[in-house]
Amino acid sequence: MQLPDEAIEFNYSGVLLPHSEAWTPLAELQSKHYLRSERVEAVKQQLMSVRQQVASERMMVNPPAKMLPLDSGFIDLPGKLMEQYRRKGKSSELGQIIQAAEKLKEEVDRVVVLGIGGSYLGAKALFDSLCHTYHNELPEKMRPKKPRIYFEGNNVDNDALQDLLDLLENICVEPSLREERWGAVVISKSGGTIETATSYRVIRQELVRYYGHSPEELRKRLVPITGPSGKLRELSLADGFKDDEILKIPDGVGGRFSVFSAVGLLPAAVVGLDVLALLLGASTMTQRFLSEPFDRNPVLQYAAINHLMATELGKDTRVLAVWSKKLEALGLWYDQLLAESLGKQGLGPTPFTVVQTRDLHSRGQQHQEGTRDKLINNLVVKGTKHAPIQIGMADRNEDELNQFSRKSLPDVLNAAFRGTNQAYAESARPTTDLILPTLSEHTMGQLMQMLMLATVVEGRLMGVNPYGQPGVEAYKKNMTAILKAESAKGSGGSSFGTVH
Ligand code: PA5
Repeated sequence: MQLPDEAIEFNYSGVLLPHSEAWTPLAELQSKHYLRSERVEAVKQQLMSVRQQVASERMMVNPPAKMLPLDSGFIDLPGKLMEQYRRKGKSSELGQIIQAAEKLKEEVDRVVVLGIGGSYLGAKALFDSLCHTYHNELPEKMRPKKPRIYFEGNNVDNDALQDLLDLLENICVEPSLREERWGAVVISKSGGTIETATSYRVIRQELVRYYGHSPEELRKRLVPITGPSGKLRELSLADGFKDDEILKIPDGVGGRFSVFSAVGLLPAAVVGLDVLALLLGASTMTQRFLSEPFDRNPVLQYAAINHLMATELGKDTRVLAVWSKKLEALGLWYDQLLAESLGKQGLGPTPFTVVQTRDLHSRGQQHQEGTRDKLINNLVVKGTKHAPIQIGMADRNEDELNQFSRKSLPDVLNAAFRGTNQAYAESARPTTDLILPTLSEHTMGQLMQMLMLATVVEGRLMGVNPYGQPGVEAYKKNMTAILKAESAKGSGGSSFGTVH
């Protein structure tokens, strides 16, 4: 397969046991904490059959009950959306997403995106990684027709929601001016998630208060995104939305696998990201996964190495070390993907994200010398978007930086990266490197699809169904029961922290 120039790479040489002639304390440690390359060779065949299994799951029309839930629709979704867009243009699903985004961009300068879990984290990862770091603060001329974005409905935080309402009430006072108009996107696949539903009720009332009671006014500034049935769909229909104005989360695409549906694409298009490039990246990764041999297949390599490190060497704590501030939200998205997909049956790696070099000054000590239960997956971006900032010469040299005057910030970051990997290697702490040539829609599309596919492959290797999240229901059931019991008693509930 011909790879695009922007293809992402996975390098796992930092987990393989180096050849050593003589006994040394380091060689002894390495023999306990590094993988023998024969082990990788030995699982390649198994990986090929898991790929076959995952590929055939895409085709199943009526899967047997024991395989449910089976949400493999995300695998072909990017390719299908692009293909349908080519054939049907505006009337395709992607065409509708793009049009809804265009309408909202024209209409408002601020958009509140409501959603939680898979209905939030992917859009936030795209926004943080690909938009200007200070997007919301930029003057309109630097972000023409690209509204400011606020993420809400991802918690039950009274004061955070009130702060947002205060902001909107104080800044948006003249609805006839675009720069003082705001709108909302409400995202919930089930349509019944209480965090999103409660904040939507408040935001919807606020929209009505600002623009008046006419359903037309509401529909101009609101986009609902939901599954084929549920309370949000019913509420939207009751508000006068036509069926095709309610953007769909297709059946067979699970929440945390839904970033390349309207869930991630609509917010991305609203802030002006190139959704076609995102989809192209994702569908290229699907093709690579389905057709490339192990040695050129980052999905299979990443799944195999992480799985072997956890099951054979006890590296159950999976650190995603992102070497860019802009990738922190991507890390949180991946934390959810891994935790909800594989944390089942008393099994599953524990994910967490660190941002380098920031967290070298907080967690670095533990990673260098703490419990040997970690595999560190570095996520590195090779190229910067802006020209490198030079350290340069200065008239005062008390900081002794003149010696590095010809170095730039990317040079310093690169030295920190190499120095950290070297320090880990010198104490037999295994690492891998996931390398993005640049941070772009195309590479983010590849990366997110790669991590979703690798999670599914790893689930199948572990014998765990990567789809569904039955454990999340436990708290929801209790919360609803508590609310119902207190409402029946007519009490307002027990407050644990209101300050009057
Ligand atoms: O991965 C999942 O399915 C979950 O994290 C959901 O995305 C999350 O619970 C939100 O659900 P909903 O979109 O139904 O509001």
